[in-house]
Amino acid sequence: MTVTFPPGFLWGAATAAYQIEGAAREGGRTPSIWDTFSHTPGKVLAGDTGDVAADHFHRYRDDVALMAELGLDSYRFSVSWPRVQPTGRGPADRRGLDFYRRLVDELLAHGIKPMLTLYHWDLPQELEDAGGWPARDTAHRFAEYAKLVADALGDRVEMWTTLNEPWCSAFLGYGSGQHAPGIQDDLAALRAAHHLNLAHGLGAQALRAALPPRRQIAIALNPAVVRPLTPSPEDADAARRIDALANRVFSGPLLQGAYPADLVEDTAAITDWSFVRDGDLAEIGRVPLDLLGLNYYAPTVVSAASPDGPRAGGGKDGHGTGHSPWPAAGSVDFHQPPGETTAMEWTVDATGLRDVLLRYTEEAPGVPLLVTENGAAYDDKPGPNGEVHDPDRVRYLHGHLTALAEAVAAGADVRGYYLWSLLDNFEWSFGYSKRFGAVYVDYESQARVPKTSARWYAEAARTGTLPEPPPA
Ligand code: FCB
Repeated sequence: MTVTFPPGFLWGAATAAYQIEGAAREGGRTPSIWDTFSHTPGKVLAGDTGDVAADHFHRYRDDVALMAELGLDSYRFSVSWPRVQPTGRGPADRRGLDFYRRLVDELLAHGIKPMLTLYHWDLPQELEDAGGWPARDTAHRFAEYAKLVADALGDRVEMWTTLNEPWCSAFLGYGSGQHAPGIQDDLAALRAAHHLNLAHGLGAQALRAALPPRRQIAIALNPAVVRPLTPSPEDADAARRIDALANRVFSGPLLQGAYPADLVEDTAAITDWSFVRDGDLAEIGRVPLDLLGLNYYAPTVVSAASPDGPRAGGGKDGHGTGHSPWPAAGSVDFHQPPGETTAMEWTVDATGLRDVLLRYTEEAPGVPLLVTENGAAYDDKPGPNGEVHDPDRVRYLHGHLTALAEAVAAGADVRGYYLWSLLDNFEWSFGYSKRFGAVYVDYESQARVPKTSARWYAEAARTGTLPEPPPA
């Protein structure tokens, strides 16, 4: 079967500042919560930090040349808040903004469209010390930071994303503690979720006011594709509960102007939600989304908790920290979906991507969609001739791009796809142990080697048609 994409479809790749830049102490940059967290023993595998990462801060020219060689139409990157506004308040540091000006100019010179994300998890540590996302003021600080970046780059960047995966910031950062700042407090996680929603709303208004006309404003969510283990009403209710905590806690205020009633009820023992003040919901939805970014990796299977403890394959999903990221969901067990898995132990299931695109086609009528992240980690190693063959990743990409095309055929308006990730990089609490790149990075020499998947993807981007993947 030939899978073809429309002309103008954006073939992209994505990265994030803390995962690739390094140069952690250069040009006035201060620590973010991820510097503090990664330098705290026991938080990140093997004690890895983003101090050097893929050294993209110094190698961005070569990296853009590589993107051009691969024929990418667009590059999704994030701006490091503590590089641009080191204390999280007050004026910008020109040196930080200059780095992003140079990067964007380099992209434009190669005909690559920048897609800028303002926040991919690196909160300035000073703002965490002042209360972090559970504190309302952080949303106002974010809007101020958004204006600084818009003033500097609005003339040359068309596509703007406020937040990347606010679910992770709120529920892994303040709930399970698997991510920075490593706090385990259900109430703090729910407050953080609301203040992230508010930050999106205030940030989008600041962008709209500061940007020239016809700039596009987006958010990148990571909706969970929640599936009940069995058709029983108990398992359906477990799926409903997790869907509220994973998805509707964001899509409710963003798209429907309200928090879902069942979410408020489910979490009543933790909070009465009085941190949502009058007028907040109007602020969150004031600027309609021009684009909705969706990140998808794998589905989530849940059931009602068994009274005898987790069944085989079930668990409380503590994300390794012993504290669940799901507030008030002790009644739910999580199950590994059947099928082959990636190096993250995430099940490969492309139907989830189709489902999520069709769901948001209904929930956000008229809003064009982008797949802002999709990809897989495998244990890639260079062969004797130095080449890196990653047929599993090629099959993963082929399957998911085919699912995307199916969603388009069924009516989804999907404008582009960003492979996660351009380069191998710092995979958060897994450090450098997980390689998601289409391009291999030798962290000793910082040499870049495009893997087989990068060549395959370049061919897809060039022809607008998916080449056949290698046989399994
Ligand atoms: C997403 C993150 C991204 C990367 C991928 C694997 O949750 O946005 O930074 O870590 O997962």
